[in-house]
Amino acid sequence: MSENPKRLITAIDTADPAQARRLIDAVAPSCGMVKFGLEYFMAQGPAGLRAAQGLEIFLDLKLHDIPNTVAGAVRSLLPLNVAMLTVHASGGAAMVAAAREAAEASSATRPRILAVTVLTSLDDAALAQTGVAGGASAQVLRLAKLALDAGADGLICSAHELQRLRETFGAGPLLVVPGIRPAGAALADQARVMTPQEAVRLGADYIVVGRPITEAANPGLAAAEIAAVIR
Ligand code: C5P
Repeated sequence: MSENPKRLITAIDTADPAQARRLIDAVAPSCGMVKFGLEYFMAQGPAGLRAAQGLEIFLDLKLHDIPNTVAGAVRSLLPLNVAMLTVHASGGAAMVAAAREAAEASSATRPRILAVTVLTSLDDAALAQTGVAGGASAQVLRLAKLALDAGADGLICSAHELQRLRETFGAGPLLVVPGIRPAGAALADQARVMTPQEAVRLGADYIVVGRPITEAANPGLAAAEIAAVIR
């Protein structure tokens, strides 16, 4: 894993572009990237990404549709020059491959395709209700292999999966990890969390942090403190 002082990604989970700008101004010195998700993109659309003010963008829309439609969505995103985007591995190998192929058509640096395996909101019982027996842990590995074999550049994963994913797939895949809490921070609704330094030690290329930064009295300082401990 290369030395990268900007492993921190701040999740800009708001629908308000002025709020997004304020946050991004504050965290810009400490972040390698900012993450926009469905909440922001549904409200502000492509033009809203200007709020990133030149910072690299991780667009977390978790695409999941037939391969032709996902490929079209990725092509439509190419002019936005996002650095990373997400698709659901459960859309199948052909869908992931279609996303990768569409990304290859980029005239600039192509967006990296990250696959989401099993949503951490699903426990084994909830997963069984969807027809997946055998538990979340086995399904994460199965979908990770499917996605990487189909051309995904990396995975979104929980910090608790990091070690096993690195052991299984080596140093190649980008591993991007949400559910991170600085030591002593409030957990909010994240049940299984890890500190930034622990996640990086276990092989995270990037950590995604939302509320511990965005709800801090001083978001710029909160981001700087996290960046400092993963340097
Ligand atoms: O506020 P918090 O640090 O929990 O935000 C983490 C970000 O990562 C949010 O944008 C959330 O949607 C996202 N995320 C997550 N857990 C996952 C996948 C994504 O917290 N398993």
